[in-house]
Amino acid sequence: MRWFKNLLALPNDNTKKTVLVALLLCLVCAVLVSSAAVVFKPLQIANKALDKKKNILEVSGLLTADANMDALFEKFEVKVVDLATGEYVDIDPALYDQRKAAGDITQNITLTAAQDIAGIGHRAKLATVYLLKEDDEIKQIVLPVHGYGLWSTLYGFISLQGDANTIQGLKFYEHAETPGLGGEVDNPKWRSQWLGKKAFDEAGELQIEVVRGKVNFEKAEAIHQIDGLSGATLTSVGVSNLVKYWLGEHGFAAYLDKLRTGELSHGE
Ligand SMILES: Cc1cc2nc3c(=O)[nH]c(=O)nc-3n(C[C@H](O)[C@H](O)[C@H](O)COP(=O)(O)O)c2cc1C
Repeated sequence: MRWFKNLLALPNDNTKKTVLVALLLCLVCAVLVSSAAVVFKPLQIANKALDKKKNILEVSGLLTADANMDALFEKFEVKVVDLATGEYVDIDPALYDQRKAAGDITQNITLTAAQDIAGIGHRAKLATVYLLKEDDEIKQIVLPVHGYGLWSTLYGFISLQGDANTIQGLKFYEHAETPGLGGEVDNPKWRSQWLGKKAFDEAGELQIEVVRGKVNFEKAEAIHQIDGLSGATLTSVGVSNLVKYWLGEHGFAAYLDKLRTGELSHGE
C-alpha cells in the first residue's frame, strides 16, 4: 500500500493523483452499482410478480386496502390457452411468459394489417388466463390485453364476469401516455364506467367501444359504450381497438365461445 500512501502524499492538483483518484472512484461506483443490480434482482422479480397479482385483483374488484395479496390470488386458477383453438394447453403457467413469447418468432404469429387493429404487429400463440371460481363455477375471467395508444403500448388486464360478456373492469399496469391526457386511462372514475358494460350484443357480435365524447344513455348501444377521454382521442381509440382486438376473433373469441357453451366451464 506504499504506492497508495505516496499517491495521497502528492498535492491535490497533481495530474497523476487527480486521474488515479477519479479512476478509483469509478471502480468503486461500478462495483457498487453492479452489486446492487445483482443483489436486488430477486427482489425486483418478486415485486413484479406481486404487482401483477395486485393488478389482477384490482381489475376483478377484489383488492382492498388491507388485502393479503398472495392469499387472495390463491383464489385464481391460472391457465394457458391456445388462442387459435380456444383450448387449454398443458403448460405450467408459472413457466410461461406471454410477453416474452410475443417477441419470439417460434412462439408468435404475425398479424396482417387488417387484423392488427391493436397496433401490436405480432402476438403470442398462447395466452395466460386467470379464472376466479366459486364452487367450480366461473365468476370471473381475467385476460391480458395490450395495444398501441398514442405514445406507447398499453399493457393491462380486462376482467369479464362468468357469462364471458359482462365486463368487470379494465386496468392498465404499464403505459407511457401523457399524464392528465391519455394517462387518464388510470383514473378510477373513468375506469369505473367499464363495470357492467356488455362486450357482445345478444347476437354475439362484439360491440364494446370507447366513443368520442360522452355516451348517450338514451340510446340502446350505451350498454356497450364508454366515454372517450377528453383531449386524448388517440389514446381512447387505441384502448377501444385493443379491447376489440383481444375480445375479437384474432384474440380470445374462440376461448370465450367455448366458455359460453360450457365446453370449458370447469377449466379442464
Ligand atoms: C404534449 C402533448 C401530449 C399529448 N398526449 C396525448 C395522449 O397521451 N393521448 C392522446 O390521445 N392525445 C394526446 N395529445 C393530443 C393529441 O396530440 C391529439 O391532439 C389528440 O389526441 C386529438 O384528440 P382531441 O380531438 O380529443 O383533441 C397530446 C398533445 C400534446 C401537445
